[in-house]
Amino acid sequence: MKKDLLSIVDLSREDISQILEHSAVLKEKHKAGISYQPLKGKCLGMIFAKSSTRTRVSFEVGIYQLGGYALFLSARDIQLGRGETIADTAHVLSRYVDGIMIRTFHQADVEELARMAEIPVINGLTDLLHPCQVLADLFTIQERLGTLDGLQVAYVGDGNNMANSWLHAAARLGMTLSVASPRGYEPDAQVVDAARKTAKQTGASLKITDDPAAAVRGAHIICTDVWASMGQEGEEEKRRRDFSRFQVNAELGRHADPDYLFMHCLPAHRGEEVSAEILDGPHSIVFDEAENRLHTQKAIMELLMGDDTA
Ligand code: CP
Ligand code: NVA
Repeated sequence: MKKDLLSIVDLSREDISQILEHSAVLKEKHKAGISYQPLKGKCLGMIFAKSSTRTRVSFEVGIYQLGGYALFLSARDIQLGRGETIADTAHVLSRYVDGIMIRTFHQADVEELARMAEIPVINGLTDLLHPCQVLADLFTIQERLGTLDGLQVAYVGDGNNMANSWLHAAARLGMTLSVASPRGYEPDAQVVDAARKTAKQTGASLKITDDPAAAVRGAHIICTDVWASMGQEGEEEKRRRDFSRFQVNAELGRHADPDYLFMHCLPAHRGEEVSAEILDGPHSIVFDEAENRLHTQKAIMELLMGDDTA
């Protein structure tokens, strides 16, 4: 049966470990200059209904390094943008390419595409979730600290796609995660419910608070993300006011573990969700995090699109 990557909630602990381990193998090969092309001749269709730097470039370079080829399909330019159905798009692309990566607004559209397609579908970000990013973040943390066990993670800011995917991941892996968001900007209620249920089985500790200092107390990792995500440009001014207490800066960092790592999926707004001092300072690992999108997504593509994977 074909496999998709639509949400971290669909992954077992073993699936996540497999992705992270394979990311490390592929990164090592790449750094050693060893050519490895398990996706020779395979094609990835990349549908983008929103802007992207990292996702577009890392998927395109990634499949090229694995021997394959990527097609950039702006949702504005393909017939999907003029009303062709998701189902017809899925059927047609399934006749041409070997996998689809999609970045769009509604999670339900990605799920419909995956249901209708005969080829693997990868979620490259929706309003609700950003699973590839959080998998790359987990890989980055494991690479830096050698483990994910016993770590305390704080997410400060908007309860958006990043916060939601972090909740799924922390719950599945039994991690300690505190999310601090202003009232009215908490993570998705259904995601929180599902994560809490999973946490009961895995021993994860999940806290949702509106107190950033409480969230980062003792944290080994502090993550944040933009206050206004793609599609929320009209709310920027209001959000700047509502989130003013939620900036990651040196003052907030004093509550964390002294060696804490700072993470941000980027793009960042210095002086809003994070001070320039933190983003460009010694705690920050944001560019390793960006690089690791490449290695993690290569692992995901090989696992989903490779011939050896059932
Ligand atoms: N972090 C991330 O997904 O970046 P892009 O929007 O540039 O793809
Ligand atoms: N939350 C941000 C992430 C960008 C990679 C957005 O959706 O715009």
